Amino acid sequence: MSNIYLNGQWLPIEQAQISVLDRGFIFGDGVYEVIPVYSRKAFALDAHLQRLDNSLKGIRLAAPLNHDQWRTIISQLVGEADQEDSSIYLQISRGVAPRDHAFPKNTSATVFAMAKPMAPVPQDWLENGIKVVTHTDDRWLHCDLKTTALLANVLLRQYAVDQGAVECVLIRDGFVTEGAASNIIVVHDNTLLFPPRNNLILPGITYDLIIDLAQQHRLPFKEAPVPQTVLLQSSEIMMTSSTREIVPITQIDGKPVGNGQPGPLFKQLLTLYQSLK
Ligand code: PDD
Repeated sequence: MSNIYLNGQWLPIEQAQISVLDRGFIFGDGVYEVIPVYSRKAFALDAHLQRLDNSLKGIRLAAPLNHDQWRTIISQLVGEADQEDSSIYLQISRGVAPRDHAFPKNTSATVFAMAKPMAPVPQDWLENGIKVVTHTDDRWLHCDLKTTALLANVLLRQYAVDQGAVECVLIRDGFVTEGAASNIIVVHDNTLLFPPRNNLILPGITYDLIIDLAQQHRLPFKEAPVPQTVLLQSSEIMMTSSTREIVPITQIDGKPVGNGQPGPLFKQLLTLYQSLK
């Protein structure tokens, strides 16, 4: 396995160590990014680095590296990876300090980066779709920040897995927000509905790319609040993320979505997304 990057050093993952007082470990006080790499080329890298800056700003942590420095680290990870397609994981925490909730003074951030093989999306998911369940979105009110404090997301994903489902679709005050680790797109009245970008959802890079594709190819779409009632009567539902790209949802809370098969808008968007890659 190729080396990882930790605080300016390159070393095998087994030798990489951080302090038990790291605020990422103690408080989940950090942010992260996941960037897909196809044929050794990072996909939509600028957008991911921009979102990383927004997340850092949102938690009031000064950016430890600029975009050129990130690009140098990422190209080394991508170049050394055993595989052509990877996902790059970047994490920055507020560093190591005696345990105290308030920010430490004069502490440098912990910076970690690794490449991981990208698992292909199972063919069965694309051909037959996946099962999801719904759950109340009981996370905090800054879901637009990609923070490492993911306990709520972890519990929600496990709630789905415990019921034999792949993802959990979250509902806040009667409206769809997103998935535990994905964005959700719904088709109603032949229109693609994208839950609006606000503090309640992560502005997904894949979500943005799919909106661009819908626009370029004149597919009917709207960025608009999606009531739970519309979700449950929709003809198609899809989830998007950097690692799973675009996946059709064909069963929700034990009931079929539309005719229970991946729909035409999903198929069109999948083809468009694959050619964009
Ligand atoms: N998660 N919403 C949440 C809560 C997510 O965790 C993710 C992705 C997305 C989709 O964002 P993007 O298209 O930029 O990947 C939406 C990553 C893949 C993860 O945590 O592993």
